Amino acid sequence: MKKYLVIGNPINHSLSPELHNHWIKQNGLDAIYEKRKLNNNDLENLILDIKKGKIKGVNVTVPFKNTIIPFLDDLSTEAKKTHSVNTIHLKNKKVVGHNTDITGFETAIQNINFDFKKKKIFILGAGGVVPSIIYASVKMGSSEIMISNRTERKAIEIKNIFNNIKLVKWGEIPGFDVVINATSLGLNQDDKINLDFTKVGKNKLFYDVIYNPSETNFLNLGKKLGNKCENGKLMFIYQAFSSFKLWHGIEPLINEETIKILDR
Ligand code: ATR
Repeated sequence: MKKYLVIGNPINHSLSPELHNHWIKQNGLDAIYEKRKLNNNDLENLILDIKKGKIKGVNVTVPFKNTIIPFLDDLSTEAKKTHSVNTIHLKNKKVVGHNTDITGFETAIQNINFDFKKKKIFILGAGGVVPSIIYASVKMGSSEIMISNRTERKAIEIKNIFNNIKLVKWGEIPGFDVVINATSLGLNQDDKINLDFTKVGKNKLFYDVIYNPSETNFLNLGKKLGNKCENGKLMFIYQAFSSFKLWHGIEPLINEETIKILDR
């Protein structure tokens, strides 16, 4: 039986096993997908297990998307450009890091028929997924990308990768067409982002990377103010779709049943 993993720390919340095992069963594959909580000093052995064929593929989540890179033999162009890996795959005996968060975000945005062309994008947070959102936003033709993070140092690190982005002081709200919550604020239903969006106007896109809960206070407020709102569910499903395709060579089915798997 082929074994696949998602690694992270913490990892308990991850719904990747539910989604991948659903598709594994649907396609009659002899495989299993599990989650594993790791520490930094476990990464080297993990890669050895991939080389030995004990593990066939790995998804990587917070906090290893960047720290896993030195252990890999090669990177896809996207993983190289974002310094971020969420999918590992053994190809021609080489352990290769890919980034399917980018296509996950892009496909999710296309799915809601929102056009990023010439739009001003304001991103909150500077965590693991932000480089992928920036890369996808550039690719989709946005005119300006601004990021704001409570800890400025981390925002500066991201600006070192993407020179053209603008840094915004935490607490300030610039003019924007799209605001994206990429912080972990909202994972708890009571979490509130301490920013004042009341003057931003209507008909913007409020996007939250969080999908559980399905409507964070951030999205709820965006909606009340007359904006389009979208959570991170489709992004999560489409990044998993691309990992699945990479590993198994099959495009898994996405329908109502798939989406329900994430309703917890
Ligand atoms: P990591 O930073 O390890 O990659 P993450 O979950 O991807 O983890 O990112 C967490 C993000 O949520 C960070 O941008 C974090 O801001 P800091 O860099 O200042 O820690 C942000 N975040 C978490 N709690 C926050 C809070 N109470 N207020 C504002 N931002 C918060």
